[in-house]
Amino acid sequence: MHVLVTGGTGFIGSSLVPELIKRDYLVTVLTRNIQAMRPGMDFVQTLEAIASPVDAVINLAGASLAERRWTEAYKAEMVASRAGLTQGLVAWMKGQACPPGVLISGSAVGFYGTSPDTVFDEHSPPGGGFSAELCQAWESAAGVYEGDAARVATLRLGVVFDRDGGALTEMMRSFRLGVGSWLGSGAQWLSWVHRADVVRAILHLLDDPNARGPFNVVAPMPVTHRDFCKILSARRRTLFNVGVPAPLMRLLLGEMADELLLEGQKVLPTRLLESGYDFRFSSLDSALIDILSRGHQ
Ligand SMILES: NC(=O)c1ccc[n+]([C@@H]2O[C@H](COP(=O)([O-])OP(=O)(O)OC[C@H]3O[C@@H](n4cnc5c(N)ncnc54)[C@H](OP(=O)(O)O)[C@@H]3O)[C@@H](O)[C@H]2O)c1
Repeated sequence: MHVLVTGGTGFIGSSLVPELIKRDYLVTVLTRNIQAMRPGMDFVQTLEAIASPVDAVINLAGASLAERRWTEAYKAEMVASRAGLTQGLVAWMKGQACPPGVLISGSAVGFYGTSPDTVFDEHSPPGGGFSAELCQAWESAAGVYEGDAARVATLRLGVVFDRDGGALTEMMRSFRLGVGSWLGSGAQWLSWVHRADVVRAILHLLDDPNARGPFNVVAPMPVTHRDFCKILSARRRTLFNVGVPAPLMRLLLGEMADELLLEGQKVLPTRLLESGYDFRFSSLDSALIDILSRGHQ
């Protein structure tokens, strides 16, 4: 099996690619920066450089939503690196003599917008706001590939937790100084997922010939930010716990503060569970025990 991965060098991709190689798949990573060759793996900078037919595509590339302030120019980059890149990818896939049979493409729970109390699953309607519209455009670009000869599954990813990068490393900053913290009221929902479950869920969707359409890739037990703080404080002793005021977050981060941090969404992995996926880390406590046991964050 030959799998093309975009975003294969990122936080999720760098965990996924070794698992694909372990299965003896040939893996090609589309990247802006060619890196050292590894056995079973090829890096390309353009789709045209791919030498042999591709059976499956896993599409994870995209400029980070949390890394920079959302200026108009950066918003355009976030859209182009997801919806734009996916449009080009799908056009290339359709043009192949042997088109790939499956496209597994990224998205996020931001698709639903934010809410203090609604419980979202895959039957919920799309929400509003920049990140919701970005996810919708990204999913639409991928969905064009769906057809009799090919299936498309989209990953509505929650906040992915693990060591060495990603959101948890940022969220643990104050805990390392002995201070537990939540943002704003702390009542906002955090639909999280362990990176190991993201990788296993992607492999599950790759293997299941009936997996098509959107899948919420979130643990079945979301928490509020205050609960997150309480659960983590029990594992990492803190001197005191405190909320970071919302106006300060808005001042520091602008529009991104509300959409990504101060408001949230409670999302359930209904379709993933219906498809027979078995979570390794269902509770936040079990995920944190695993992550913290593998060394300091
Ligand atoms: N991690 C999370 O908590 C989370 C949650 C929800 C959704 N997601 C989405 O899932 C995808 C993978 O997540 P991740 O955490 O692995 O992301 P990541 O670590 O930021 O990696 C994304 C990859 O996208 C490529 N990329 C970055 N900027 C780009 C640009 N301007 N144009 C083209 N490619 C660009 C990079 O690959 P090269 O440098 O090799 O080109 C990078 O390795 C992302 O699209 C992200 O938005 C992640």
